[in-house]
Amino acid sequence: MGQLDGKTALVTGATSGIGLASARELAAEGAYVFVTGRRKEKLDEVVAGIGADRATGIHADVTDLADIDRVMAAVEGSGRGLDILFANAGIGEVAPLGEITWEHFTQLFHTNVGGVVFTVQKALPLLKEGSSVILCGSNVAIKASPGMSVYAATKAAIRSLGRTFAAELIGRGIRVNTIAPGPTETPGLLGVVGDGEAERAAMVASVPMNRLARPEETAGVLAFLASDRSSFMTGAEVHVDGGASQF
Ligand SMILES: NC(=O)c1ccc[n+]([C@@H]2O[C@H](COP(=O)([O-])OP(=O)(O)OC[C@H]3O[C@@H](n4cnc5c(N)ncnc54)[C@H](OP(=O)(O)O)[C@@H]3O)[C@@H](O)[C@H]2O)c1
Repeated sequence: MGQLDGKTALVTGATSGIGLASARELAAEGAYVFVTGRRKEKLDEVVAGIGADRATGIHADVTDLADIDRVMAAVEGSGRGLDILFANAGIGEVAPLGEITWEHFTQLFHTNVGGVVFTVQKALPLLKEGSSVILCGSNVAIKASPGMSVYAATKAAIRSLGRTFAAELIGRGIRVNTIAPGPTETPGLLGVVGDGEAERAAMVASVPMNRLARPEETAGVLAFLASDRSSFMTGAEVHVDGGASQF
């Protein structure tokens, strides 16, 4: 018996990193998972890995409203409704103050904030009473992160959205929480910050546990927030960061 048996989940940005590990974990705990991303071949691999009878991949970009509509139509067409929504898709990019371009700003806000707002909004008719929505924040929302001011601001926006969405949906019995990972060993992080010895050492030095997280460690907490075991939690932010935001 898995703790998510009989539940249906949607994970955006599940072709890589934290989203991929989370989709696998939710499926391992018994959920049927809908997974999205822009890379079709990767999506096909993810579905094959989980099992075509346990997962559906939908090729979609979270910055495209018509794509989000297609995602929700596919979930609706399955007749399952949604018990779990993990609005995870996001991107990072380094741009120190003085080098911030409008393109950098809009790309990060459209993806990391707009993508979450419209995914949650368009999922509303499908979310069942008792369902769990989890937004992907970051510990950089509450810490200075030189070179990443716009990215950090998108994650501060997520933290704020999580609170207000939770208040707006509490009457429907829908919980909304934010998960805030610290530096996690994913293609996304290493692609942005760099995968050299010096870059890794600098990231590790920022974590009291003295290492990067594995995506599976974040996925374990995500599965807890998705499950009824966290039934008295809403509007919260949970840091999965080896102590980085605490001391
Ligand atoms: N890794 C960390 O240290 C860390 C720390 C704190 C927070 N986070 C957050 O965790 C989330 C996942 O990041 P990650 O590190 O796992 O990065 P990742 O390995 O690059 O994965 C990002 C995922 O998002 C998808 N994605 C990106 N833009 C998209 C778009 N426009 N539409 C649909 N899907 C899109 C990507 O799929 P496609 O390329 O196939 O579209 C991919 O599956 C992000 O929100 C990130 O900000 C990460």
